[in-house]
Amino acid sequence: SILILDFGSQVTQLIARRIREAGVYCEIVPFSSGAEAVARLAPKGIILSGSPASVSEAASPRAPQAVFEAGVPVLGICYGEQALCAQLGGNVAPSDHREFGRAFLEIVDDCKLFDGVWAKGERHQVWMSHGDRIDAIPAGFRSVGKSDGAPFAAIADDDRRYYGVQFHPEVYHTPDGGKLLANFVHNVAGCSRSWTMAGYRDAKIADIRKQVGDGKVICGLSGGVDSAVAAVLIHEAIGDQLTCVFVDHGLMRANEATEVVTLFREHYHIPLVHVDASEAFLGGLAGVSDPEAKRKFIGKTFIDVFEAEAKKIGGAGFLAQGTLYPDVIESVSFTGGPSVTIKSHHNVGGLPERMNMKLVEPLRELFKDEVRALGRELGLPQAFVGRHPFPGPGLAIRIPGEVTKEKCDVLRKADTIYLDEIRKAGLYDAIWQAFAVLLPVKTVGVMGDGRTYDNVCALRAVTSVDGMTADVYPFDSAFLSAVATRIVNEVKGINRVVYDYTSKPPGTIEWE
Ligand code: XMP
Repeated sequence: SILILDFGSQVTQLIARRIREAGVYCEIVPFSSGAEAVARLAPKGIILSGSPASVSEAASPRAPQAVFEAGVPVLGICYGEQALCAQLGGNVAPSDHREFGRAFLEIVDDCKLFDGVWAKGERHQVWMSHGDRIDAIPAGFRSVGKSDGAPFAAIADDDRRYYGVQFHPEVYHTPDGGKLLANFVHNVAGCSRSWTMAGYRDAKIADIRKQVGDGKVICGLSGGVDSAVAAVLIHEAIGDQLTCVFVDHGLMRANEATEVVTLFREHYHIPLVHVDASEAFLGGLAGVSDPEAKRKFIGKTFIDVFEAEAKKIGGAGFLAQGTLYPDVIESVSFTGGPSVTIKSHHNVGGLPERMNMKLVEPLRELFKDEVRALGRELGLPQAFVGRHPFPGPGLAIRIPGEVTKEKCDVLRKADTIYLDEIRKAGLYDAIWQAFAVLLPVKTVGVMGDGRTYDNVCALRAVTSVDGMTADVYPFDSAFLSAVATRIVNEVKGINRVVYDYTSKPPGTIEWE
């Protein structure tokens, strides 16, 4: 395996994703737990991440000595390269030539990292983000790449198998970066391509059997990909010792509840309890318009309904959850201070303690795209596995202000048309999430010869890797016009359509 020591960069998770794509298992741990992780994992290679900190400040973080005593290859990325230099006898200084964004790397010399990708004398696009600069490299190193702002933008010590790059090979804007990281893990560290979803499936099935024995497991289905993949995997492991509970809050998209129920009962023959709790949810939401109050009510009601069902089933000692790796990674922060709650997320946290159940979390090591691959491995249909994420509180957070059944129905119609058009245009898979929002705002329109006074519908579509940051999807205007025309013509209650052009940050993906 490969160990990634995190110094707090925004993009550390991308390093892990690239390594996994190269078929190698890796883990991310905070730099401060580095020594313990080296001992526990005995990794074949170590990667030092970037950081918002500055090596030239006294209190900035360093790699634990264990990294250099492990006798394995080390790759420092950005801050990681600078820490490597500072710790091994080089020098890092603040620079007036900051490099941020696209830059070009000139290959000064060949090295194992570049094998089959880049050759001496070539120039290649990379992504930079640094203020400090290395002005002397430690003994044993040579420069293999330079850029305008960084004379030591890539360095190598072939004997110790230490490498450093000032640019970020993990990001999309360094087009060959994935290949460089694959070179590091395969050619330098000698890892084989042993991380596959088929292997993961078999290992997890064995783990689940061992953990659960002949106990009973309950799994809450949300309609989303994660809980569905977890349920199917657990069912493969323990069969009908698993019961799924689908709490239908009446805030799903059109047909969604039926699709989930059919898939589980008819395709997989997994025991499934379908609880229609829409009256409890919609009744309780009457008169509530504050976003946090809505979220809290839905979260609490969900837990109450789920708990009541679990009691009816009885005798289950285990609760399954679709927790993913990004929820598990301990984050490194240099901003200090308490972090603010932007939104209270709806999940079943708190439930296991209250019900005294043990957790079964078979997706804990996986990223979202790996969950999809595992789903395919388990035979889930592509149309299901490739679904856009859908938030726990459902349509309630896409209807600013008070939520009613009538508003949900109007929104479902608009949303269906929008997604229909996106699928027809072949754009669904290029988008992370697309949905319609029903605004509590009425505007005047004209239809035929008559005046209309109806609600506004906003359309949202974003691209993202993990939902943490997002860019607006740039539809062409003919597409948006066609969708707007269809919605206004076909959905009673909407007479105007607008497109949300806000990225995240500063916006969030959902409207509430
Ligand atoms: P925001 O709106 O915070 O959303 O930019 C980021 C991602 O999280 C999803 N989301 C949720 N998912 N429970 C969930 O399971 C929630 O309460 C929740 N709120 C937002 C959102 O759809 C997007 O993918």
